Amino acid sequence: MNLALEAENLVKTYGAVRALDGLSLSIPAGGVFGVLGPNGAGKSTLFRIALGLVRPTSGAARLFGAPAGQTSSLRRVGAMIETPRYPPYLTARDTLKMLALESGAAGADIEYWIERVGLGGAADRKTGGFSVGMKQRLGLAAAFFTRPELVILDEPTSGMDPAGIQEIRALIRDLADKEGVTIILASHQLDEVRRVCDRVAILSKGKLAAEGDVESLTGGRPRLRLTVTPVEAALTVLGAKGEPDGPHAVLADVLRAETPALIRALVEAGVEITEARWREGDLESAYLGALEPKDLADAR
Ligand SMILES: Nc1ncnc2c1ncn2[C@@H]1O[C@H](COP(=O)(O)OP(=O)(O)OP(=O)(O)O)[C@@H](O)[C@H]1O
Ligand SMILES: [Mg+2]
Repeated sequence: MNLALEAENLVKTYGAVRALDGLSLSIPAGGVFGVLGPNGAGKSTLFRIALGLVRPTSGAARLFGAPAGQTSSLRRVGAMIETPRYPPYLTARDTLKMLALESGAAGADIEYWIERVGLGGAADRKTGGFSVGMKQRLGLAAAFFTRPELVILDEPTSGMDPAGIQEIRALIRDLADKEGVTIILASHQLDEVRRVCDRVAILSKGKLAAEGDVESLTGGRPRLRLTVTPVEAALTVLGAKGEPDGPHAVLADVLRAETPALIRALVEAGVEITEARWREGDLESAYLGALEPKDLADAR
């Protein structure tokens, strides 16, 4: 398998704090990979090591098979680590021009990226006056506009409004699906992660607590939850596809295309249906289940 980022037994200590405590993780090239974990779990530290911004105490990190921090591998990466800071006296457009010169990407299509991250109306404003969400939009343009193969985003939408989150989700999916960019992102917005990521890793206290594709971690595909009376009759109709969910409801493992026939069959069997809704896979339960209660309680 082609790997975008590999961590091998990574340890990073800051004094007595073990930010990474023997983390091993392989992130495949292609698709969107989510890194989850409580505050202080080591997500940003992993990204900083991958980008060569800090050195590991021991262990190794590789980008596309080469040691992390090498100039040749860094050319293939774009990143936004936490809310970026830029010279406050430059406009958004001039900031991107400056970054393009710095990274040798003089041909980068700055105007396209300003529009793509939704900063068209603010391109000539000084970034010193930008809100957190606006700075993050600019940071995303800066991460993407050199057309890297891998983009590392640390909480890219933590300051954005709901419409902004949706736009950025579409942008990330688009870049992964249509342009083959690998995207690694850390986020605390589990619903967002479920919608945008193909695979996720859950870190806890500097170690890997769980890893897998989003569907298997969240217990498979969505199921139809039906509030019904009597429950027994509904379960008889559903057979192996049904299970009770509390005293008044059942969960049906059916495809969307099968629902009209199922509802007809239930009505014909004398079952009264007062509610039917799709229940999506639940990443929150998977997340909480992977972590010790103590890990959840105290950030380090
Ligand atoms: N430069 C530093 N000096 C001292 N301690 C640090 C430094 N950077 C990180 N740490 C510590 O390492 C641990 C891991 O921090 P890190 O920023 O990687 O966590 P995180 O998973 O990104 O958390 P969050 O979800 O809050 O962003 C924390 O205990 C943090 O205080
Ligand atoms: Mg962090």
